Amino acid sequence: MPLPVLEPGEVRVAPSLLSADFGSLAESIGEVATATDWMHVDVMDGHFVPNLTIGPPVVRSLRKHTGMLLDCHLMMTNPGDYLEDFKEAGADSATIHVEIGGTAELVHQARELGLGVGLAANPDTAFEAVEPFLDSIDLLLLMTVFPGFGGQRFMAGVLPKIATARKALDRLGLKVALQVDGGIDEETATETARAGARVFVAGSAVFGAERPWEAARRIQNAASAALARG
Ligand code: DX5
Ligand code: ZN
Repeated sequence: MPLPVLEPGEVRVAPSLLSADFGSLAESIGEVATATDWMHVDVMDGHFVPNLTIGPPVVRSLRKHTGMLLDCHLMMTNPGDYLEDFKEAGADSATIHVEIGGTAELVHQARELGLGVGLAANPDTAFEAVEPFLDSIDLLLLMTVFPGFGGQRFMAGVLPKIATARKALDRLGLKVALQVDGGIDEETATETARAGARVFVAGSAVFGAERPWEAARRIQNAASAALARG
């Protein structure tokens, strides 16, 4: 399915499978199915980040169990070598990191394959690095922790960059989904929603909860309420 185009005021929560039980991923997806249809799949290559996780074979297996959006966050040095594999496995979108370079080509490659196209920036990467690509992507991911591990503390220092991105997207009239990832819970979803985020990736706050679907709903409600308050 294509990445949803969010209307003003619309927010989504995207549970991150990184914090789920890797022995029963399909079940974990089922646990949040009543709250959202957007799953965040963290792909780590042991090189761009010091951790190894999921690859195309796992995405292929997940696809057999769910019709949910499989939004793949590629924390990889060479995503270009794998985009086709992810597409064939059933991924809906691929988010590449701007820090690895060659962004224009990678964005083009993902688009040609029919994937939704996301671009991610680490906490210490300036907004100016992603700015030239805003009109060619569907999703902008501003990391609120350094990627690599779940359960890290939210970095409030990213809030001004989120606000800058929101302003730029609105000024340009672009419906790019502004996503945040890292240390997101009800409180930080509220803060980042106020700054301009609309898609909230949450791993430990969702799958660490007793009832993951309830936790996901609460995060989405907190973000919606923050927007409604203005
Ligand atoms: C971090 C990953 C995140 C991670 C978030 O490198 O990109 O998606 O799963 O986990 P929490 O929500 O626990 O910070
Ligand atoms: Zn992620």
